[in-house]
Amino acid sequence: EAAEDMEARPAVVTVMGHVDHGKTRTLDAIRSARVRESEAGGITQHIGAYQVEVPHDGNQRTLTFIDTPGHEAFTAMRARGAKVTDIAVLVVAADDGVMPQTVEALNHAKAAEVPIVVAINKVDKEGANPDRIRGELSEYGLVPEEYGGDTMFVEISALQKQNIDGLLESILLTADAALELTANPEREARGVAIEANLDRGRGPVATVLVQNGTLHVGDNMVVGDAHGRVRAMFDEYGDPVKEALPSRPVQVLGLSNVPRAGDVFLVTDDERTARQIAERRETAKRNAMLARRRKRITLEEFD
Ligand code: GTP
Ligand code: NA
Ligand code: MG
Repeated sequence: EAAEDMEARPAVVTVMGHVDHGKTRTLDAIRSARVRESEAGGITQHIGAYQVEVPHDGNQRTLTFIDTPGHEAFTAMRARGAKVTDIAVLVVAADDGVMPQTVEALNHAKAAEVPIVVAINKVDKEGANPDRIRGELSEYGLVPEEYGGDTMFVEISALQKQNIDGLLESILLTADAALELTANPEREARGVAIEANLDRGRGPVATVLVQNGTLHVGDNMVVGDAHGRVRAMFDEYGDPVKEALPSRPVQVLGLSNVPRAGDVFLVTDDERTARQIAERRETAKRNAMLARRRKRITLEEFD
């Protein structure tokens, strides 16, 4: 891709951490701190991802947060080889410390070479000991800047919405220091499905993250083994949008069936090509399933 076609795109952020350490509260606090009112005046829809505007160095910057019931979806996405995250926020409860899923999350981020920002959460609680978290994580190679390392640690209370701006600032600083985030908005869109479901009135509904190019209403797309012409798109406010730029999450209507989280999508020149690719994928999926079943039967015969 020609360098002159590339433009800066927002960082895509996921929030990880041990059970009950405050991932959901942190995402809620960020959303309520920064998300604008819906044009329709309604409340924010849950579409599995949202964008926020952050004032930074005199500019308005955008960050995309993936807001799915984290773990399962991400395990599935990783298994399918989809890389969605640019930066991981590792939430650690200050009154609890580093736990098994904390370590699992940081290992996943390291393996994917995704920079980590540590959010020491629940600092409002009695028994909170942020320095203990700094020490424990240092032993896993996440050394705070104040100890001479290069990982940013931020103390927050997601519940009391304390220092959420500090967290956003640290995410932007880390992104600017560690990443070169660009995409070409002029090309046909590519990306990944974040979540999908069958809506009674609207049919299959998929939230996709555009990773490159621009997705338009009317585009023909393939997502996993689903295909279709984009009939309508909605942002996280439920407001209709006509196009979605790189790093934008958007709800898509018009698919033939419900794709899976982690399925990659692409746009094709015409509807027939989209259908053919989807059918090929469907056949491949069915064959793989049959092969697994045959193998299982063969193994059972040996028992
Ligand atoms: P799972 O999705 O189940 O893994 O949990 P989670 O990491 O999303 O945690 P969640 O945000 O649901 O918070 C777990 C509990 O901790 C809830 O009861 C929250 O109210 C509480 N909690 C979260 N953040 C804070 C905080 O900053 N301070 C205090 N005191 N409680 C918090
Ligand atoms: Na919880
Ligand atoms: Mg949660």
